[in-house]
Amino acid sequence: MGNMALRRSAQGVAKSNSIAVRSPISLSLVLLLCLALVDSSSAQVDPPVVKVSPSAITANTSEIVLLNCEYFANPASLTQVEWYRNDILVNVNDTTHYKGGNSENVALVIKSTEKEDIGNYSCQLSNNIGTGTSDHKINLDVQYAPSVEILMIPEGPVKESDESNVTLFCNVLDANPSVLTKVRWYANSTLLKELPDCEETREDLCHIDPSKLLLESIGRGFFYNYSCEGFNAAGWGPRSEDKELLVHYEPGPAALSHFPLVAVKKKSVTFSCSVDDPGFPESNRFRWLRGGRGPLQDIVTKDWTVEPVGLDSRTNYSLLRIQ
Ligand SMILES: *[C@@H]1O[C@H](CO)[C@@H](O)[C@H](O)[C@H]1NC(C)=O
Ligand SMILES: *[C@@H]1O[C@H](CO)[C@@H](O)[C@H](O)[C@H]1NC(C)=O
Ligand SMILES: *[C@@H]1O[C@H](CO)[C@@H](O)[C@H](O)[C@H]1NC(C)=O
Ligand SMILES: *[C@@H]1O[C@H](CO)[C@@H](O)[C@H](O)[C@H]1NC(C)=O
Ligand SMILES: *[C@@H]1O[C@H](CO)[C@@H](O)[C@H](O)[C@H]1NC(C)=O
Ligand SMILES: *[C@@H]1O[C@H](CO)[C@@H](O)[C@H](O)[C@H]1NC(C)=O
Ligand SMILES: *[C@@H]1O[C@H](CO)[C@@H](O)[C@H](O)[C@H]1NC(C)=O
Repeated sequence: MGNMALRRSAQGVAKSNSIAVRSPISLSLVLLLCLALVDSSSAQVDPPVVKVSPSAITANTSEIVLLNCEYFANPASLTQVEWYRNDILVNVNDTTHYKGGNSENVALVIKSTEKEDIGNYSCQLSNNIGTGTSDHKINLDVQYAPSVEILMIPEGPVKESDESNVTLFCNVLDANPSVLTKVRWYANSTLLKELPDCEETREDLCHIDPSKLLLESIGRGFFYNYSCEGFNAAGWGPRSEDKELLVHYEPGPAALSHFPLVAVKKKSVTFSCSVDDPGFPESNRFRWLRGGRGPLQDIVTKDWTVEPVGLDSRTNYSLLRIQ
């Protein structure tokens, strides 16, 4: 048993010897592995390397936008996450507008875009080794529909008899992009024309600046409140305020009536002047002529009572309306 035991222990020694014989190779392998590990970990113990994407985003207002921030860091746990818009710190604590942008969720979400969000975004991350900022930025463009006003040149009022021209301009107050690609023109809140009009065959209204409308040879038929609406890549904007194009024109022909219908001697007679088209601006000054002479200086009202009726009153009465 003792021999057996000795042999067993000799075998045991032999076994351990054989390991010992191979050990220099194993050791060098282990050493190499360890060196490699130390080497690679020393390369990663660095501030975060940060990259944002995409490089540009175009959105309309009221859209959700995701700003991505990828990084390599060791240690991987981030001690601080900051987003900058045009190099100004973004207040990600405003959770009504933003989501994420913190150490749990590095990517920044804008819940509903506004024009104030336009800008270049960068991401800055820190671990306990240091801080890294993205080299590139995300250029966020938020498009919004045009708000406009209407301008008239000349401002008016215009005299019908001048047969003058007026140009209407649909002027952009605020829009992104700022160029109007379509304009709707309104007169008294009713759609007059949408420009450009590529179906129109008589004139070329297809390749024109839609923000200009020329009114030629202005007459009373142009006497409206004008407004416009602009269109860009973000859609149609709200209609502008009304602007009145004042057209001055002469009154229509006057009609004369009198009461009583048959003039009675020694009784008074009232003459009345009526005009179907009162002209513009409407005037309540009338000019009376008597027997082709006149005008009578002191009578400027619509009605004129002559009393009493005598022979000398048997003249022709006529009137003129004063503009
Ligand atoms: C957001 O809130 C955290 C914690 O309340 C605070 O440390 C941080 O400074 C705030 N950030 C901003 C931009 O106000
Ligand atoms: C964002 O950066 C681009 C390119 O550098 C620049 O053209 C653009 O004006 C910047 N946008 C804003 C809002 O600063
Ligand atoms: C109005 O425009 C027409 C056509 O462009 C032109 O012939 C006319 O002379 C203009 N009228 C006035 C008063 O300028
Ligand atoms: C435009 O509206 C005004 C009142 O709002 C009215 O007096 C005028 O007659 C209208 N013009 C036309 C041509 O309908
Ligand atoms: C234009 O609008 C004003 C205010 O609503 C109104 O008083 C005026 O009569 C309108 N003019 C025309 C020509 O419709
Ligand atoms: C913005 O809105 C307009 C009009 O609704 C649409 O045609 C366009 O595709 C939208 N653009 C983007 C970037 O969502
Ligand atoms: C009144 O006018 C009519 C027609 O124009 C003319 O025949 C008549 O003689 C005139 N009467 C007087 C009193 O002038």
